[in-house]
Amino acid sequence: MIDLHCHIYPGVDDGPISLEETRAMLDIAVTEGIRTIIASHHFSEEDHTVETYLDAIQEGKSQVQPLIDDLSADIKILDGAEVFISPNIIHIKDLKKLCINNSRYLLIELPMMDIPIYTEDVVYSLKINGITPIIAHPERNRRIVHEPSTLEPLINLGALAQVNTGSITGLFGKHVRKTAKKLIKQNMIHALGSDAHSPRRRGPYMKEAARQLTKWAGSHAARRILHTIPEAIINDGYIEVSDK
Ligand SMILES: [Fe+2]
Repeated sequence: MIDLHCHIYPGVDDGPISLEETRAMLDIAVTEGIRTIIASHHFSEEDHTVETYLDAIQEGKSQVQPLIDDLSADIKILDGAEVFISPNIIHIKDLKKLCINNSRYLLIELPMMDIPIYTEDVVYSLKINGITPIIAHPERNRRIVHEPSTLEPLINLGALAQVNTGSITGLFGKHVRKTAKKLIKQNMIHALGSDAHSPRRRGPYMKEAARQLTKWAGSHAARRILHTIPEAIINDGYIEVSDK
């Protein structure tokens, strides 16, 4: 499986605090059947330039690669970022370098409490500049929890959406779980990510969520969410998504 959203490198953000924690996360990922991890650490204009972010990722990569080489399992980590939305996101220098594995797909984080009024404009301008935004864990956004249909205009503008495994398994409470179920059943979810931050509660767990997602979505839609679409994302392939 491909874990589309994971804070895997030590000391980059609020993810693992040591190389030992990253090692424990890799062990969990292998047991969970994860073979590709996207390193999607927090990026915000206030804290980083693209250059300083990529330097931090590079530093993480050089520390973690020996651990991966030591594992008997075939697992790899690809570059990515979780970019906090802002009205001027499109003007960030070299923004495209934050896309997943140099593809056209960029993971975007909304604030927890609301959907900013400029969100549709941002999605639109990213699209016309050749970047397809993937909305990270919309099921955790309070506004979407309250009214799941508020995600529809963003999907209709061409955004994709990634659900967290912990939202499906109930880690973030029953309201978030219910929202995840609704969005999945209404074809508004395109990929799954652990959004893991440590080897503990928010570890890189996927198996149980994938099983539940398959129950909710049916095997055909689940196959698209778990395999077809994530593979297209990391290979910069075209993804056909129907309007809501
Ligand atoms: Fe995250």
